[in-house]
Amino acid sequence: MGGLVIGSDDGMGLTGARRPLRVLGIGGSMRLGSKSLGALESALALAREAGAETTLASVRDLALPVYDPTIGLDGQPESLRWLVDQVRAADAYVLASPTYHGTVSGAVKNVLDALNVLARDTPRYLGGKPVGLVALGGPSAMNTLNALGHATRGMNGLTTTTVVTVPASAVDEDTGTLTDDAVRDRLTLMIDDLLLLGMALRERTAVAALAGTR
Ligand SMILES: Cc1cc2nc3c(=O)[nH]c(=O)nc-3n(C[C@H](O)[C@H](O)[C@H](O)COP(=O)(O)O)c2cc1C
Repeated sequence: MGGLVIGSDDGMGLTGARRPLRVLGIGGSMRLGSKSLGALESALALAREAGAETTLASVRDLALPVYDPTIGLDGQPESLRWLVDQVRAADAYVLASPTYHGTVSGAVKNVLDALNVLARDTPRYLGGKPVGLVALGGPSAMNTLNALGHATRGMNGLTTTTVVTVPASAVDEDTGTLTDDAVRDRLTLMIDDLLLLGMALRERTAVAALAGTR
């Protein structure tokens, strides 16, 4: 399946912004060999194929303690300060969680909770930017997508129209790569949607800034 490629003309837009879109992926599990991390890496690889720059924030590497809202950003781990910088710099996001007990994993939700430190940003949290959602698991992975969608809206993010459930059987146990073409096709649709939204919203924000309306 083809997929969107951000050509130089597509990427320039009215404001002449030439830099590639920046896509930040957040997710995976605490498990070495995490399949949800593999699915997330595949989604980011598709974004790179389409001309985007990508950054991966694995929940295992972030290794955040349970979020304590009484501790300000200065008192939080260096990995959270790094993540906050990445969130602010990104144009679009992909969130990926395994399905644990029929919903989003605690580790992924904890990272999203920790992004509470972005509550007072202008614009708030995810800045109204687009968010693609990936959930690994059986049929109840749909609940995980819904939970990620609720959290995304709670963090001022805009979910893509296409979101993706990934069965565990679609990810190779040893390499973390996708083994299912139908899943890859759906991830491609989601990434196309994400990049189109990201370009449109970046353009709108830049034009509004030029016009002095933001
Ligand atoms: C605590 C726990 C709860 C789980 N609950 C579910 C579940 O409700 N539905 C499901 O499809 N898989 C469930 N699983 C299986 C995981 O989705 C599966 O092991 C997946 O590969 C874990 O993601 P990871 O490979 O990124 O670590 C659960 C696994 C764990 C450890």
